[in-house]
Amino acid sequence: MKKHLLSAADLTRDDAELVLRTAEELRSLADRPIKKLPALRGRTVVNLFFEDSTRTRISFEAAAKRLSADVINFSAKGSSLSKGESLKDTALTLEAMGADAIVIRHGASGAPHRLANTGWTRSSVINAGDGTHEHPTQALLDAFTMWRHLGGAGKNGGGLDGRRIALVGDVLHSRVARSNALLLRTLGAEVTLVAPPTLLPVGVEGWDVATSYDLDSVLPKADAVMMLRVQAERMNAAFFPTVREYSRRYGLDSRRMGLLQDHTIVMHPGPMVRGMEITADVADSKRSVIVEQVTNGVAVRMAVLYLLLGGSEPAGAADDRHDHHDSAPATDGASQ
Ligand code: NCD
Repeated sequence: MKKHLLSAADLTRDDAELVLRTAEELRSLADRPIKKLPALRGRTVVNLFFEDSTRTRISFEAAAKRLSADVINFSAKGSSLSKGESLKDTALTLEAMGADAIVIRHGASGAPHRLANTGWTRSSVINAGDGTHEHPTQALLDAFTMWRHLGGAGKNGGGLDGRRIALVGDVLHSRVARSNALLLRTLGAEVTLVAPPTLLPVGVEGWDVATSYDLDSVLPKADAVMMLRVQAERMNAAFFPTVREYSRRYGLDSRRMGLLQDHTIVMHPGPMVRGMEITADVADSKRSVIVEQVTNGVAVRMAVLYLLLGGSEPAGAADDRHDHHDSAPATDGASQ
């Protein structure tokens, strides 16, 4: 693994599979009464969020705490400083405080790269979503969820090789789509982007994926369907005629769900706009793994933090230590 996780392209297939396997080991922790390992005790993880977030920020916080790291949450929204200055000053401050990892979400594409590559900090930088660019830990948790459902999680599992994944909706503004496409290709899956022509990025030919404007023709072949939110906050023009028209052509409703194969799962990174890209009955249906994606997000982010910061021992060793602590009455007392 590289020192930073800025892009899904930073991960080789071996790296990505190591994260997924480590997450699989760590996931079992969620089912235990004491959800804590001492692996990152004494390390400091800073959550630096310049943009709104519910799931991602809480998920990183839960992940860091479950590994016994100290967590500092810094919500920088509303700063009046210009972006460059504010990021530099903030980075220098965090450096002075001895942050080991900085988890950054920023509205500007490339902000995490700037933080990692300027020498302002020695911390590991993890991109938690930058503008319309990338969101690599979301891609990892999505791949992990697919891996578990589509038969790849076991040691002898077939992985995602040849699996057909449809990413549907506002691909143009979606950092989730870009990171997913990169990672899923690394893991051998076949990706189809489904969107109106106005919501496919220029240069998508270079993504090594198929594209389609026709959702109904893609659904019967898909093994997983990921619906993307229309990123209204990033739109400065009209990209489709009306919300109704968009939902009719690109929304997932129960009629369309009937086109899916029996094993096909429905995903969404959240936040969902029910009634727009997905209807409530689909979101709450048996096929939907949307809530599980959130659970898996914590395990995957634990794996990423562990591998970037601790990673000298295999996660299994940490797990053994946990078992040992688990049976002791004063489990990791200071941080429980
Ligand atoms: C996504 C994001 O912020 O990029 N959400 C997330 O991190 N779970 C997708 C979105 O905002 O639609």
